[in-house]
Amino acid sequence: MTKREILVTSALPYANGPIHLGHMLEHIQSDIWVRAMRMAGHRVHFVCADDAHGSAIMLRAEKEGITPEALIDGVWKAHSADLRDFGVAYDHYSSTHTHANRELTARIWLALKANGHTESRPVKQFYDPVKAMFLPDRYIKGECPKCHSKDQYGDGCEVCGTAYTPADLINPYSVVSGATPELKESTHFFVKLADFETMLKAWLVARRDAGGLQPEVVNKLQEWFADGLRSWDVSRDAPYFGFEIPGEPGKYFYVWVDAPVGYLAAFKELCDSGRNGLKPADLERFIAVDSNTEMIHFIGKDIIYFHTLFWPAMLHGSGLRTPTAVNVHGFLTVNGAKMSKSRGTFIEARTYLNHLDADYLRYFFATQLGPTLADVDLDMKAFEERVNSHLVGKWVNIASRCAGFVHKFFDGKLAASLPATETANYADAAKRLSACAALYEARDYAAAMRLIVEVADTANAYIAEHAPWTMAKDESKRDALHVVCTLALNYFRLLAIWLAPVVPATAARAFAFLGEEIAHFDAAAQPRLDAAINEFSALATRIDTKKIDAMIEASKENLQPSAAPAATAAPETTKPEAATISIDDFARLDLRIGTVLECGFVAGSDKLLRFLLDAGELGQRQIFSGIRAAYQEPEKLVGRKVVFIANLAPRKMRFGVSEGMILSAGTGGGDLHLLDADAGAKAGMPVK
Ligand code: MSP
Ligand code: ZN
Repeated sequence: MTKREILVTSALPYANGPIHLGHMLEHIQSDIWVRAMRMAGHRVHFVCADDAHGSAIMLRAEKEGITPEALIDGVWKAHSADLRDFGVAYDHYSSTHTHANRELTARIWLALKANGHTESRPVKQFYDPVKAMFLPDRYIKGECPKCHSKDQYGDGCEVCGTAYTPADLINPYSVVSGATPELKESTHFFVKLADFETMLKAWLVARRDAGGLQPEVVNKLQEWFADGLRSWDVSRDAPYFGFEIPGEPGKYFYVWVDAPVGYLAAFKELCDSGRNGLKPADLERFIAVDSNTEMIHFIGKDIIYFHTLFWPAMLHGSGLRTPTAVNVHGFLTVNGAKMSKSRGTFIEARTYLNHLDADYLRYFFATQLGPTLADVDLDMKAFEERVNSHLVGKWVNIASRCAGFVHKFFDGKLAASLPATETANYADAAKRLSACAALYEARDYAAAMRLIVEVADTANAYIAEHAPWTMAKDESKRDALHVVCTLALNYFRLLAIWLAPVVPATAARAFAFLGEEIAHFDAAAQPRLDAAINEFSALATRIDTKKIDAMIEASKENLQPSAAPAATAAPETTKPEAATISIDDFARLDLRIGTVLECGFVAGSDKLLRFLLDAGELGQRQIFSGIRAAYQEPEKLVGRKVVFIANLAPRKMRFGVSEGMILSAGTGGGDLHLLDADAGAKAGMPVK
């Protein structure tokens, strides 16, 4: 095997709010990958940091009456502790507000400038005359131009779902001061992305072909090129919490400039610390264009553009290496719906840890995580059942049923050898599980977990067949009992080795029980024989439903009246001037054809019809649609082709979960008309 050297990162969490289970999906995904690659023998450096800059953080600090530095300091401590207690083993967890990051950001910017990839021009933007600051879209509110709901954000209406710009709002006001925003001009700095069009196109295809980018990500990005790459606005005016642009007083780097550089800055600090066998000069070895090391980012699907267009362009344009892979995951939903504060499903990492073991969530996420962008659902019932049935029932129980006999009859020692059948049994299981190494590397943890459960079933069938508890009563069967317990405990050990990246703390307890330190998958090749084991104490206990309920209750208590708008996770992209949307706004809609399989009234609702759609490759979708007044005979709609939005966040309703929205024309009430698709349109086809 060739030993690879890899820098792995997770996206930097914003420093203006707590880590929640959505973030944890990502940190757990990357941590499992890092642990698995290390157990496979590769050299991995794993870093992350808080994303500490931007208007949101500046304003929140102001509201709390502290400096931004004090705010990000407190948040950093909480984030670091949360991640550590979830077993996420960063070699270094930094912040973007560091000396190293200021220097590297300046270096990259100045190189881009020297290479002619930057420009500046005046931009008109909304300005708060009272607060004397330019306002991001999320800081302007007003009346929705469409449905006239009050107090809607500048980027879109949360009531009717219309997307627009602050200029469209009726009676707009600044969230910061309440003043009416004015349009004001100021010079902004840009990175000329068009310079990188050819390079990016080639890079995307090359990375896709090398397995470093998912095909669905590359497809999505192709659309971005359709009308040419516009320059990226990378400056913000004072007051702003961030790094001042060298030589441009009063102008600051937009937070998304220094955030990805933060990956390299965190790594630089790790190199400078001398830990991990690194030395200061290793930074340049990593970031050189011809580096033979790898740089791999794990991110969520909401920040693809930043990592696959802007970031590679910045690196390439400043003469540095580009990422080897950008691994994108979907979003976490809880109980089939978007995380919700009022339902108690917006669960903070700390709230979870106060009630439940970190490894339980790590295991559950692993059973759900594949290499695609599909969303992951944390269904509390499935979580409880799977942890209890798999981790405790199928794995830990192997040890708890056999360890006692080994101590009682065999002096705590495993048999010195195994008969041919048992040797073959072990070899077979070891061979089957060896496929996990490739599955981990391909981020198909769900498939790896299925394999592990299959082998656990084989182990439990072996134990059930030989019933050591019955054998133990018969003194003439001591040797046979020793063999059965030795193989059973070796099955347990084998499973522990392959589960270790997922449940590191529990696996460490398992290895301590087995009297071994295991850091490499290679250890699985041979059974452990003729060796002493330690007393068994429960490695993991069943989840008590009450603990889940208590966690949900506690999450409802966390509900605070939202102060400043939440982290601006929605990327603030270059915005068009008037009430138009850009092609990428449209591309965010996944419109599809669905064939109506079932349609009927909904008991208890006089507005809704329940549809079951055949959505082709997307499977079946249940959608509740408020068009009952227009369609009195819903059964007649069966077989019709409709157009629906497939990527609308699932919504939990009183009657069930609605997984999308069906489009119709009209003004509402009885005046609603489903859209038709021409012959030839098939279920699941995208509508563009
Ligand atoms: N600060 C930026 C990232 C900068 S990286 C140079 C940011 N921060 S964030 O806190 O909003 O999100 C951090 C990561 O968590 C992102 O990859 C994001 O996709 C992920 N998630 C945030 N909420 C999530 C879910 N509900 N589910 C899964 N991942 C989610 O974006
Ligand atoms: Zn509206």
